[in-house]
Amino acid sequence: MRYCAVGALRRGLPCSGRLCRGPFVRFESVTAGTSVKSGKRGGSRWFTRVLLGFLVPYTGYAVYVTVSTAQEIKYRHQHCIKGLEDPEDPRFYSFETTRMKYSPLKVLGRYENPFVEYRIQTIYEFFFNRIVELFERNRGGIPPDKRQMRALMPVHKPTWSGGEPLDHECTGNLRHDVVALEDAVPAAVGAHTTDTDEPPLYNTWLGQSCNFVVYNGLKILTDPIFSDHLLHESLGPKRITDVPCPIDKLPQPDVILVSHNHPDHLDPMSLQHWNDDNNPNTLWIVPTGMKKYLTSNNISNFIELSWWDTCELVQPDGTAYNITSTPAMHWSGRSLMDTNESLWCSFIMTHRGKPVLFHAGDTGYVKDLYIRIKNQFGAGCRLALLPCGQYCPEWHQRPRHINPSEVVKIMRDLKAQNVLGVHWGTFVLSGEYFLEPKQKLELLAEFEGIRDHCYCPELGKTVRF
Ligand SMILES: *[C@@H]1O[C@H](CO)[C@@H](O)[C@H](O)[C@H]1NC(C)=O
Ligand SMILES: *[C@@H]1O[C@H](CO)[C@@H](O)[C@H](O)[C@H]1NC(C)=O
Ligand SMILES: *[C@@H]1O[C@H](CO)[C@@H](O)[C@H](O)[C@H]1NC(C)=O
Repeated sequence: MRYCAVGALRRGLPCSGRLCRGPFVRFESVTAGTSVKSGKRGGSRWFTRVLLGFLVPYTGYAVYVTVSTAQEIKYRHQHCIKGLEDPEDPRFYSFETTRMKYSPLKVLGRYENPFVEYRIQTIYEFFFNRIVELFERNRGGIPPDKRQMRALMPVHKPTWSGGEPLDHECTGNLRHDVVALEDAVPAAVGAHTTDTDEPPLYNTWLGQSCNFVVYNGLKILTDPIFSDHLLHESLGPKRITDVPCPIDKLPQPDVILVSHNHPDHLDPMSLQHWNDDNNPNTLWIVPTGMKKYLTSNNISNFIELSWWDTCELVQPDGTAYNITSTPAMHWSGRSLMDTNESLWCSFIMTHRGKPVLFHAGDTGYVKDLYIRIKNQFGAGCRLALLPCGQYCPEWHQRPRHINPSEVVKIMRDLKAQNVLGVHWGTFVLSGEYFLEPKQKLELLAEFEGIRDHCYCPELGKTVRF
């Protein structure tokens, strides 16, 4: 078969078809053969050669990736949803078609986005935007005075579980197993009636997409970042608000969910704090492809999940939870070399067959993705943590980051009960005024009459759902 074998797709495995096996483009110098002349211009000529030797093959690579990805998306669409063009047809949104359309896609050994909404980002766009940024004045509109900042962005001392003791110690006793998702079992309609005996969920926002969630004694940390500087002390970018709790004062999480390998979603401090030497009992759940990075940081207690893979967690008292990796529209990598070597994802946690927590990671908006996630895992997710910042300039950010109005759309698509807008107010990584995501989201929510269920949290403040 030319493309993805449907059998592989059904098992939720990454595509293993033709596109995945191609050799990686070798970066050969196109000017090789012409001899370097000596002289004072030799240096700059050499530089031009190296630059061209990189850019010409790179451009070919980018074109190849764009064309192959577009072909694969078209193929999946035609082949997998053949005859199902009517969105009223219940089969249109079946889990089978979901997995056919939205399973991981690899081109030349690197993951790419299989979404028609996506537009590829090249290094030209990346660096062009970095240069444009240099001309921006007072990027993010950060107040120069720290006191003023504290008034705008209060930082609270977390209580983690609203005063209830964090007594259900399951760290180290948590059993985990990757289980197969049953085929196409649509979630029960109307599953979002909350039973009164359902345990409360507590969320504490710690900046960016880092949240500490306590549910029924299970402690989950999402996308950990505690450092003051994203890249380096001298390079910045520096945190604009304080970390509400130093890393060594944090209760030990049972599980850490990492949505993708980007510096603002996983920092070296966290890697060190929860490695084999310091906290070997904490289980890391990460996207496929991150094994190398974690083992090189001395972490061995981890599970890699591909899209639609599920990990079942069982507490000592037998209480079980399912955490499933679901698709997101983003990218990954810390350098030019490891770009897209690992997958990016969102996570949904269910308990007793009902969705409890959705952690979106970083993502752009995909029209039918969240509806499909809702169809599979049920409506009425107790809490969805959705990113709402880093959307300016729109021409550059839109494919990879949602804006406040898309947050509301996803809330509707998922039929989530509550939404917290995160991924803002921590680092200046984009052009919008730093408070704009909060102001816009809350204004929209007010307008839609859902202000009590959709807003931006305050740093360190523990909220009960
Ligand atoms: C990585 O993936 C993103 C998303 O598909 C894409 O825009 C980017 O060009 C990819 N980079 C490489 C080097 O493949
Ligand atoms: C987790 O998912 C598997 C596969 O769908 C299912 O068999 C199991 O009952 C689920 N466990 C929980 C706790 O929901
Ligand atoms: C991993 O552990 C080894 C041996 O204990 C140590 O030498 C190395 O520095 C550690 N690496 C990291 C990244 O912590």
